[in-house]
Amino acid sequence: MEIPKAPKIFWGKTRDGESVDLHALTNSKGSEARIATYGGVVVSLKVPDRSGRMGDVVAGFNDLESYLKPPPYFGAIIGRYGNRIGKARFSLDGGEYTLAKNDGENSLHGGNRGFDKRVWTARSLSSQTLELSYLSRDGEEGYPGNLWATVTYTLTDANEFMIEYFATTDKDTVINLTNHTYFNLAGDGDILGQRVVINADWFTPVDEGLIPTGELRSVAATPFDFRTATSIGQRIDQNDQQLIFGHGYDHNWVLNRSGSGLETAAKVLDPKSGRVIEVLTTEPGLQFYTGNFLDGTLAGKGRVYTRRSAFCMETQHFPDSPNKPSFPSTLLKRGAEYRTTTVYRFSTI
Ligand code: GLA
Repeated sequence: MEIPKAPKIFWGKTRDGESVDLHALTNSKGSEARIATYGGVVVSLKVPDRSGRMGDVVAGFNDLESYLKPPPYFGAIIGRYGNRIGKARFSLDGGEYTLAKNDGENSLHGGNRGFDKRVWTARSLSSQTLELSYLSRDGEEGYPGNLWATVTYTLTDANEFMIEYFATTDKDTVINLTNHTYFNLAGDGDILGQRVVINADWFTPVDEGLIPTGELRSVAATPFDFRTATSIGQRIDQNDQQLIFGHGYDHNWVLNRSGSGLETAAKVLDPKSGRVIEVLTTEPGLQFYTGNFLDGTLAGKGRVYTRRSAFCMETQHFPDSPNKPSFPSTLLKRGAEYRTTTVYRFSTI
């Protein structure tokens, strides 16, 4: 019997005339994810609430045109380097590399035209798995080496949305891939009442440009302590220097890890809908961002994206690692294989 292929539709064209498709993944529970080949964007993700009602838990739009504008990385694959590289430069193997300054003096999310703004080649592996590939050429956005990247999305029958990242290169380079989906477990409204657990004793404090200082700081007795479930809104507006720099939460937590496999990074629970998301990853860090820069000027799928109406759980290496020798390395050696996995597991209480 032939494996049923994920249904796809033609979604439109980019400004350069490249065709963009929209693929649907479905599972036996009736959950559904829609993925665009543009940016590998997770356009929608429908999972049940405690009464079995399906709801779309990610921010996004129904039309391609809105993604071309572009929105703040809604649902997209981020590369080559998720989050910031300080002063938009780094050195490697004796060479100096200069990147686009697209966030003040710093480089954010892969530069002016990162992986979120590229059309990926899709291959449907089944009705539950979609593989996306992209070849980033040597020198693209200032990064060394041809980089062959593959991202696989799977919607399992256990209501897990799994992302597997793979890459190889023909020159030493740096890499930090992540996904920038904005979640709201209630579907709509603000996220301040949603309760978060982050499995981390430490975080990486930042300067005013949101570049880590290099210090690892204990979360104890700070608003960054999410070791027990705490609502997002409970401390977000406290007079804390780090919260002021981030305009809320926009920081990297140093995940407590016991090995190199998939381990629980975080959990979020929405008391109203009963939806729970558990984040598992092989990565050492988690950027928890509370949509502080959303300002109500974007709207889509019948919602207005107001400040703090969605959160991101970006699993990754720490920001600015290429300039921070004490952080876990983001170096990918020529010929080596980069592999990471993140699972967003949905359930209800
Ligand atoms: C990341 C960054 C934020 C912001 C968003 C996109 O989470 O850390 O500062 O750039 O992406 O708006």
